[in-house]
Amino acid sequence: MCGIVGYTGPREAYPVILKGLKRLEYRGYDSAGVALLDGDLNVYKKKGKVAELEENMIGTNMHAHIGIGHTRWATHGEPNDRNAHPHLSQSGQIAMIHNGIIENYAKIKKDLLAKGYNFKSDTDTEVLLNFIEDIKKNNNCPLEEAVRIALKRIVGAYCILLIDKDDPHTIIAARKGSPLVIGIGKGEHFLASDASPIIEYTKEVVYVNDYEIAIVRPDELILKNLGNENQTPFITKLDMELAAIEKGGYDHFMLKEIFEQPTTIYDCLRGRLDTEKSTITMSGIQQYADKIINANRIMIIACGTSWHAALVAEYIIEELCRIPVEVEYASEFRYRNPIIHEGDVIIAVSQSGETADTLVAIENAKQKGAIIIGIVNAVGSSIARVSHAGAYTHAGPEIGVASTKAFTAQLAVLTMAALKIGLEKGTITKERYQQLAQELADIPEKVEAVLKTDDQIKKLAEKYKDARDFLYLGRGYNFPVALEGALKLKEISYIHAEGYPAAEMKHGPIALVDEDLPVVFVATKDSYHEKIISNMQEIKARKGKVIAIMTEGDTVTPTLADDIIVIPEADEIVAPMLSVIPLQLLAYHIGVAKGLDVDKPRNLAKSVTVE
Ligand code: G6P
Repeated sequence: MCGIVGYTGPREAYPVILKGLKRLEYRGYDSAGVALLDGDLNVYKKKGKVAELEENMIGTNMHAHIGIGHTRWATHGEPNDRNAHPHLSQSGQIAMIHNGIIENYAKIKKDLLAKGYNFKSDTDTEVLLNFIEDIKKNNNCPLEEAVRIALKRIVGAYCILLIDKDDPHTIIAARKGSPLVIGIGKGEHFLASDASPIIEYTKEVVYVNDYEIAIVRPDELILKNLGNENQTPFITKLDMELAAIEKGGYDHFMLKEIFEQPTTIYDCLRGRLDTEKSTITMSGIQQYADKIINANRIMIIACGTSWHAALVAEYIIEELCRIPVEVEYASEFRYRNPIIHEGDVIIAVSQSGETADTLVAIENAKQKGAIIIGIVNAVGSSIARVSHAGAYTHAGPEIGVASTKAFTAQLAVLTMAALKIGLEKGTITKERYQQLAQELADIPEKVEAVLKTDDQIKKLAEKYKDARDFLYLGRGYNFPVALEGALKLKEISYIHAEGYPAAEMKHGPIALVDEDLPVVFVATKDSYHEKIISNMQEIKARKGKVIAIMTEGDTVTPTLADDIIVIPEADEIVAPMLSVIPLQLLAYHIGVAKGLDVDKPRNLAKSVTVE
């Protein structure tokens, strides 16, 4: 939530910051702003997307070698120019941007108001900034020290960057709960919420840890903890190319990412799954194999699309490993009083690795003795670092706000892990293991085949784009896929959609069915197929419009469905990696047909670093 960028060095700061903000816009696009320091400290900010800020900047003095920029997902205060970041302190001396939430801001604001401070915005950020300025003034200390004192009294989450008119080359940065990466160039430094604004300039980065303060100058990076002790910056080399974060000829990131899936799934399997030797190599999982095998239960914690991947994994792990699995929304898990025993295994699934609810949920569980396995896409992210072990999904940067390639990569990793554990535990035979390993290896090619249905789905999108509601139904492994299909449609097209287990539909949603309701059946050939055919008949009997995702060679479904999308045959355990793809494309094309900004749907953000 919210993207932050900073630069100090010999380049013009504005173009670096602007480009960075565009790359981080997936994190929020309610407003955007920059502060540039060149003798004067100038702040420019605007409601709306980064492009609107850019437009607004034309004709202004953009010259500066130091600056900070922000793209906002609103928490406190409505999205408008006034609440946009950066904020200026009361004296106009300090500018600050913030990603996170200050929970005890109301009390601090009351104290500052009593001291005569005025506030120009409704944000918690401006309160923290004036609090810092007040401390600086009263203690007559450097900004760095004022920040340290203030942060010790703050409850909440933050990544903040500050620049001070009196110190024209230095950015002070700090984080707790919201991500911060610092890129190390030659005589210059780049700061950002993730590596995408940095990759173009340097591959050497430092991931700042919680409770650390960075003092960043062109040729110096000092890291300290809140106790003012120096910390050694741990330099990591980025394993990412610039092309991975650009559109590469596609109209939208979402379409590019849907079409990348044959490659991303392949990359995820590569080096791990060896069908010839019949092995799966996952060192993080191997290290904890005994603990997983002996676990009384596994809990999987996630949000959004990752939660849907977790639901598929529940079916797969219970089937292959015979270990009870519970799937929890991270936001529910962290606020109830869950029973966790020493040695319980908790799998956290997250694309960004920064989702605040998931992160805090696993931190709590870790304290209670659980073993945390992270299935994460973003390398070096907070969830990856908090986990005891895990496996990266290797899907590459996902920029489109609606998650697509991350979902299939999560399924690939979770299926490999379940196969590995199932074999070691003896709950699947060697033959079934080999058969499923081959099925997994065949998935990238089959995904290619599914993507060929794109033109057909585009036509379907035209046909159904004006529907008011959609129902998505599936059973077994395809039930979470139905949930995911409905979520994609809601996110991208703003059409109300519900996902349901196909049989449960009789207990309520069937009342919605009439000749105007499109019902998407995820009805691939599996052990539930006859049952779902009966459910299809129930919908047809009530004149619903049936769109069926079906398996090649199925002769029954076409006799019932109004529209069909045919996908290759696959074992039911791996089928969700195929059946979800037409649903991603359907949501995408409906969103485009309705003229919506599919990469940046309203009110959403990709990386939800607030609870
Ligand atoms: C947001 C995104 C979703 C994502 C969810 C969980 O809501 O818009 O696409 O599935 O967060 O994010 P994570 O990064 O933890 O998978």
